Amino acid sequence: MGKVFDFAEVAKHDNRKSCWVILYGKVFDVTDFVADHPGGANVILKLAGKDATEDFDPVHPAGTLEDNLKPEALLGTINPATLPEKESFLVTSPKADDPPHVDALLNMDEIEELATAKLSKKAWAYYYSAADDKISKRLNTEAFRSILLRPRIFIDCANCSLNTKLLDNHVALPIYISPAAQARLGHPSGEAGIAEACRAFGALQIISNSASMTPEEIVANASPEQVFGWQLYVQEDRTKSERMIARINKLAAIKFIVLTLDTPVMGKREDDQRGGNVIDEITDDWKSTDGSVQARDKKAFAGLDPTLTWTETLAWLAKHTSLSVILKGVQTHEDAYIASFHRPQVKAVILSNHGGRSLDTSPPVVHTLLEIRKYCPEVFDKIEVWVDGGVRRGTDVVKAICLGAKGVGIGRPALFGLSGGGVDGVKRVLQILADETKTCMRLLGVEKLEQLGMQHINTRFAEQQIFDGPSDLAACRAAHLSKL
Ligand code: FNR
Ligand code: LAC
Repeated sequence: MGKVFDFAEVAKHDNRKSCWVILYGKVFDVTDFVADHPGGANVILKLAGKDATEDFDPVHPAGTLEDNLKPEALLGTINPATLPEKESFLVTSPKADDPPHVDALLNMDEIEELATAKLSKKAWAYYYSAADDKISKRLNTEAFRSILLRPRIFIDCANCSLNTKLLDNHVALPIYISPAAQARLGHPSGEAGIAEACRAFGALQIISNSASMTPEEIVANASPEQVFGWQLYVQEDRTKSERMIARINKLAAIKFIVLTLDTPVMGKREDDQRGGNVIDEITDDWKSTDGSVQARDKKAFAGLDPTLTWTETLAWLAKHTSLSVILKGVQTHEDAYIASFHRPQVKAVILSNHGGRSLDTSPPVVHTLLEIRKYCPEVFDKIEVWVDGGVRRGTDVVKAICLGAKGVGIGRPALFGLSGGGVDGVKRVLQILADETKTCMRLLGVEKLEQLGMQHINTRFAEQQIFDGPSDLAACRAAHLSKL
């Protein structure tokens, strides 16, 4: 560890045969690790012979180096005086000269605008991007807006409460934070910063499997009543997932596991391909070393298991945890119906198209909610139905609840709030949405969330667009029973 290197010496080791990188002021020989990097070899080779700290830090939780490199990989330290100017350890400073304080911002669009001005291009691309033409991303919000509200008059609405229960856990509002990877790209406080804001609001947070901090770090300062879920992407090497689940089982603040199922392979996200390289760092190779984009015949999320099934995967999960399971990414009434047969292990589904990031032109949650109401409304009595995607106003939250949702998730708004103003930014997001939700309920003449229902909304426009084809739920049921 004693040796101090000049940058010129490190810079010579810039290739597959001899690959050194500088991380946090230390020099590592990662030649043997290049081929094993879960994000692909090119990501490391691009940084060979350079200071990789700025690229590495926001996307790797604490402990990553220790878990993956042998002690002998550490060669020494770098003499900082020899680093070229642009290799400074400083994180890029905000682009905007004098950005407004988050408390002056009034809605999610203004928060996104501030975050866009502050984020690096690649971080912005990762948060903003969605699949193909981003039709589902747009439709997610538009479908909410296509529903009209039916206000009632002469009703005392002096008191209004957002208190509710999500899977038997008391929360102060039905709005929760959807799992989203890489929060430290947006702000150094990362997922722990989001947790701090949730603590102040009594809001539930689902931690992503690809979070930029460890689950232990994220829940470390939780209040005793604070509630978390943990999202799982099942790894092809199941032992890796089993080790993570064992850690989650030990964290009392984490009350359930969210199994995300809408991304067995990653959607085509052109903003990421164009604007940055974050996705490379958490996915398999998809660019050659000369930068040209290659056909992605391999699954894009490195190491994810694309072979999951109703029977095998849920049985495997039951062996490793007694925590309740929520299935995320349900997009048809058939799958919601089948999920309801997997009680008591499966206690809820999250209707979601992954914020439009997986399959473009997949349905917005408004359509899926209406579809379930049409074909198999009994699902709402058997399991909880949560939703996310495109929620940007309190009226969107109210409409989702009128349609039968118990919890309403936000993905990008939390990331943009964090990027725009750290913990205060996330608090501002929750404050705006909570205030708007209450205002909407009062103007509808409603004091409690349970009172909201179909009588408060006019969904005729959206109903014209929902699935109207055949449905064979008897066959779904028979197929399910035959596998028990
Ligand atoms: C996500 N989402 C997501 N979902 C998941 O199950 N695991 C994950 O790691 C991530 N990561 C992730 C990163 C980013 C940058 C975004 C924008 C989204 C999807 C997320 O949970 C949620 O479904 C959508 O974000 C909801 O749409 P809105 O609220 O962003 O419109
Ligand atoms: C995403 C992942 C990680 O949407 O779910 O980028």
